[in-house]
Amino acid sequence: MGVTGSIAAYKAAVLCRLLKVAGAEVKVVMTPLAKEFITPLTMATLSKNPIAVEFYNPENGDWHSHISLGEWADCMLIAPATANTMAKMAAGIADNLLLTTYLSARNLVMVAPAMDCDMFAHPATQHNLEVLRERGVEIIESGEGELASGLVGKGRMAEPEQIVAAVEAALSEKKKSLQGKRFLVTAGATVEAIDPVRFISNHSTGKMGYALAEELAERGAEVTLVSGRTNLAVPRGVRRVDVLSAEQMYEASVEAFEGADGAIMCAAVADYTPAEVATSKIKKSDDDMAIRLKRTRDIAASLGEVKGERLLVGFALETDNERVNAEAKLAKKNFDFIVLNSLREKGAGFGVDTNRVSLIDRTSREELPLMSKREVAERIIDKIETLL
Ligand code: C5P
Repeated sequence: MGVTGSIAAYKAAVLCRLLKVAGAEVKVVMTPLAKEFITPLTMATLSKNPIAVEFYNPENGDWHSHISLGEWADCMLIAPATANTMAKMAAGIADNLLLTTYLSARNLVMVAPAMDCDMFAHPATQHNLEVLRERGVEIIESGEGELASGLVGKGRMAEPEQIVAAVEAALSEKKKSLQGKRFLVTAGATVEAIDPVRFISNHSTGKMGYALAEELAERGAEVTLVSGRTNLAVPRGVRRVDVLSAEQMYEASVEAFEGADGAIMCAAVADYTPAEVATSKIKKSDDDMAIRLKRTRDIAASLGEVKGERLLVGFALETDNERVNAEAKLAKKNFDFIVLNSLREKGAGFGVDTNRVSLIDRTSREELPLMSKREVAERIIDKIETLL
C-alpha cells in the first residue's frame, strides 16, 4: 500500500485495517509528505509491519529495497494518490521510495486518486491518468462531493470499502484464467518496400493489438505478438516477432498459429504490395510515374481456412456501410467474431488511446461505449473466454 501526501491520507488507516480484515498482508510505503498527514506509527500498528519512507534506515543503514517490495506484493495499491505522484508515475520520475517501488513493480498497480476538483479536471492530470490507464494501471474512480478544500466536485478519494472491493475484484480477475492457452496477435502496420528508400504503409500505431497482447499475457496466456512497424515497447511476458512486409507477417503468423488456441488479427496489413521492388533508388524523371501493385495474401482468411476448433478474431475498420461490410468479412474470413471500429467515431481509430467498437458474431452484435483501448482489450478477451 502506497500512501501519498493528501488530506485523504487519514482514510488510509481505515483502508489498511479493512485490507487486513479481508485477509491481506499489508506493507506500507509512504511519501515523505504523507507522514505529515498520517503518522507512520498509525500505519505500522495497523499493518503490523514496519513502514518504509526512506531509501535506507538512517539509524542502522539498512537498505529498503524497492525491488523486493514490488516483488513481494500481489498488488501495489496507492491510496490516496495525489496529482503530483501520478504525474511522476506517468513521467517515470523516481525521487522517493514509493515511486521507485512503482517503477520496479511487476504486479498489478492500482491508484485511488484524491485531490481538489480543479486539479482533478486539469488536462495535465487527466492526461496522466490516461497514460497510466494505458499502461495497465487500474484507476479506482474518484467520487463527486464535498472536498476538504470546501469546494464541491470530482476528486474525492473513493471510500475505503469501495477500494477494498475494487482490489478484490481486480485480483480475482487477474486470476490466470488463460493459463496454458496460446495466442497469436498481429498488430501494427506492414511496410511494403518500393525501392531501398521508399515504402507503402498506413497510419496504424499498433496500440490496440499491443493492449490485447498485454491483457492476454496478464491472464496467463502464452502470447506471440507478430508486429509490424510500431514504436511501442514489448508488453511484459509477451514474445514479439518483428516483421515488415505483409509476406513476412504471413509467414510468422502461420508458424505461430500452429499449436495456438486462438488468434486475434489486429494488424493493418497492406492489401497490395509493389509487383517489383527496385534494387536501387528509383530516379525521378520529368514524367509522371506509376507503380504496379499486386495483391498480398490475406493472412486472416488463410488462417480462417485451416482454423478448425481454434478461435479466430478479426478487426474491421470501415468508413462506409460499416455493418454490412463487417458481417461480410466475418463470414469470408471465418472469424468467430469481428471487432468493428469506425473512423467516423470521435476518439476511435489511429493513434488515439480510446476506441469505440462493436463486437459482432453470427448471431449478435454488442455496441460498446467509448473506452480506453486497454478496456476494449479486456472486453474482447472476456468474449474470447466465453467462447473457449
Ligand atoms: O479485409 P480487411 O483488410 O478489411 O480485413 C481486416 C481484417 O483482416 C483484420 O483483422 C486484419 O488484421 C486482417 N487482414 C489480414 N491480412 C490481410 C488483410 C487483412 O490478416 N492481408
